[in-house]
Amino acid sequence: MTVLIEAQNVEARYGPVLALRGVSLLLREAEVVAVLGANGAGKTTLLRILCAALDPDQGSVKFLGRDIAGSSPDRLVRQGLAHVPEGREVFPLLSVRENLIAGAFVRRDRAAIAADVDRMYGYFPALRERRDRHAAVLSGGEQQMLAIARALMSRPRVLMLDEPSLGLAPALVKEIFTLLRRINRESGVSILLVEQNAHQALSIADRGYVLELGRIVLDDWSERLAANDDVRESYLGIRDKGLRGERRWRRKKRWR
Ligand SMILES: Nc1ncnc2c1ncn2[C@@H]1O[C@H](COP(=O)(O)OP(=O)(O)OP(=O)(O)O)[C@@H](O)[C@H]1O
Ligand SMILES: [Mg+2]
Repeated sequence: MTVLIEAQNVEARYGPVLALRGVSLLLREAEVVAVLGANGAGKTTLLRILCAALDPDQGSVKFLGRDIAGSSPDRLVRQGLAHVPEGREVFPLLSVRENLIAGAFVRRDRAAIAADVDRMYGYFPALRERRDRHAAVLSGGEQQMLAIARALMSRPRVLMLDEPSLGLAPALVKEIFTLLRRINRESGVSILLVEQNAHQALSIADRGYVLELGRIVLDDWSERLAANDDVRESYLGIRDKGLRGERRWRRKKRWR
């Protein structure tokens, strides 16, 4: 399989804080890959480096075999790399439809853009219903759907998402993740999914990496990660196979 993204030995600092330490990862054609990590593990820093929003202090990132150093995020979008940032960031005063069209800013094929807007409404019927409303009035879940659909409007080869589950009810997360997997299967877009919600992320990913304090501590097939004792205890909150473990872990995380 063609390698689309290859990060090698990436290091990132914020002043004295070493946020990433020697991170290497691969994303291949048509894969769904999860990057799991708790608060502050370095997930957002890593995604921002992979889409050229931030320069690494050390190491390199290649997209389609070419070093992205010196590239702008816009240029990478043109080359097929789309990014849904943490916190969604839809354009609040544009309508849903205008947000989608804005996502196609790298394209000139108007008829195909209109067809893709329709395709997005097919994936996300709630967006069709609200197509003329300002994005600002959408619920959190609808805004997340819009952010994803808008990114897909550039027809990317790679879609990167920063914690799309944040603040959403579990049933909605499940729905959105199931759709991501379907879009991956139907269009072949590769997905890099950065998440704290390990359970849901691993349920749709082929492979995963576990990031702890800026370091990749595990990387494996999803089923193997989901069965790994350390992952089960730290990220799935499963100690005694009970839901109580999960709740305990969630509470712990909130307090960190
Ligand atoms: N702009 C910044 N200035 C200083 N330190 C930062 C900055 N951004 C992040 N950090 C630090 O770098 C580390 C990694 O942060 P990052 O935001 O990448 O983690 P994260 O895994 O995305 O966390 P979260 O789950 O909270 O989104 C943390 O220790 C964080 O405090
Ligand atoms: Mg983050």
